[in-house]
Amino acid sequence: MSGPETSPPEPESGHSLGEGEASGPALDRLQEKAQACRRCALRQGCRQVVFGVGNPRARLMLVGEGPGGDEDRQGIPFVGRAGQLLDRILEAARIKRDQVYITNVVKCRPPNNRLPVQQEVEACLPYLRTQIELIDPEIVICLGSLATKTLIDKNASITRSRGSWHKIGSRNYMATFHPAALLRDPGKKRYVWEDFQEVIKVCNKSDQGGAVDE
Ligand code: URA
Repeated sequence: MSGPETSPPEPESGHSLGEGEASGPALDRLQEKAQACRRCALRQGCRQVVFGVGNPRARLMLVGEGPGGDEDRQGIPFVGRAGQLLDRILEAARIKRDQVYITNVVKCRPPNNRLPVQQEVEACLPYLRTQIELIDPEIVICLGSLATKTLIDKNASITRSRGSWHKIGSRNYMATFHPAALLRDPGKKRYVWEDFQEVIKVCNKSDQGGAVDE
């Protein structure tokens, strides 16, 4: 783990959108495993496993907290109110949902939408870590505190961590506020927009032509 960096990371060269190893079949096998998972009690209380959605070779991956009621019903992450706001942010950034990969720290809905507890996070973490390895994104956006603490630094504060790059291994992590936090406090929207601008800047720099926003 490394600390926050103020300057944008050097993008990996030659990693344009849609290129890369065929990670799809391995991701499908991982999804089958997740669907049969009983590593924690969450599966007993939810309708289905919400594994993740999007491009299996995405350069940009977004990680939220866990499925809510709408996601649990539809089996797709970020389809409720917070998801609709995320869609608007992506649209404003000219990023298409099918260009990115979207998932959560935990794949099963916690009862009453409570925060997942540490044991549930740890039980689910191998799925998230393997998703990241297989998709191999250049950039991971951590949406909110749980994803930030899980993937960047367990002691991180979202307010302090957001807005700067965190390089872990070969990957660049950006933390930003969760869309649900923006619904509660619209004043935070401008920070999320700044964070997405920074992400777009780095994506475009690595494209040298701007594939992400075209
Ligand atoms: N909040 C999340 O963190 N993830 C979802 O999929 C929906 C809401």
